[in-house]
Amino acid sequence: MQDQPVISVQDVGMTYRSRDGLENQVLQGCNFDVASGEFVSIVGQSGSGKTTLLKIISGLVKNTAGEVQVRGRDVNEALHDIAMVFQSPVLLPWRNNLDNVMLPMEFRKRATRQSREYGLELLDLVGLGDKAKKYSYELSGGMQQRVAICRALVSHPEILLMDEPFGALDAMTRDSMNIELQRIWQETKRSVLFVTHSIPEAVWLGDRVVVVGDRPGRIIADIKVDLPRLRTKEHRYSDDFARYVAQVESLIGVSGAIS
Ligand SMILES: Nc1ncnc2c1ncn2[C@@H]1O[C@H](COP(=O)(O)OP(=O)(O)OP(=O)(O)O)[C@@H](O)[C@H]1O
Ligand SMILES: [Mg+2]
Repeated sequence: MQDQPVISVQDVGMTYRSRDGLENQVLQGCNFDVASGEFVSIVGQSGSGKTTLLKIISGLVKNTAGEVQVRGRDVNEALHDIAMVFQSPVLLPWRNNLDNVMLPMEFRKRATRQSREYGLELLDLVGLGDKAKKYSYELSGGMQQRVAICRALVSHPEILLMDEPFGALDAMTRDSMNIELQRIWQETKRSVLFVTHSIPEAVWLGDRVVVVGDRPGRIIADIKVDLPRLRTKEHRYSDDFARYVAQVESLIGVSGAIS
């Protein structure tokens, strides 16, 4: 079916239960879809359940209510279509950068010469073609995060889940990573779910911004961002951009970054 969403989250709820039997309801009645090739940003207060939501979609955690489907299939059957990028790049220090990128292919026993060439192509795409044989300690934080993004893309996943991938970077590096991510997304045509604490980042990158309210986490708004593609730095200074940022801020009740 052409119009089938890539990710479909229906009435999803999550209640964690501690060892002493205490229940913590973290998500309740969450509904949203992600279409093929769409870039969806997720924002919400700390503790509202964003990471939990990504973990459910990736199959790392099982939701206690509702249903999640990836291309019409149960998430457990769809794991190979999904890759995740975390706040910290978590590269193995004893492997060079290309070998770090190739890790998912080795796990899948699919590390062929061809896939290695693709790994190199990806490093080229993020401007690190000449760093393939270097080690992570020889790279800056932004460069390491780019290697982690290549590692996520090397298995050709249809969906990229990103959990505050640029949260540890300084503002300038973060801006250039935003530009880079938009370019990678346009070139690789992946569907992206992107969690961030920065509302301007969410608006600038997203086709939509999904706002998660807290206690328990639920979707309180799903805003279509009608700004042109490709977006440039200048779009950050437009009135339309400022209006979207203000709209999301007022929904969350904060200004600027959420902590
Ligand atoms: N494995 C777990 N067991 C029990 N409770 C958990 C577990 N993981 C998360 N929680 C609780 O679920 C709630 C939501 O956590 P989650 O990490 O999903 O929030 P978040 O929106 O990603 O927050 P942040 O913006 O700080 O990253 C928190 O109250 C947290 O303590
Ligand atoms: Mg989180």
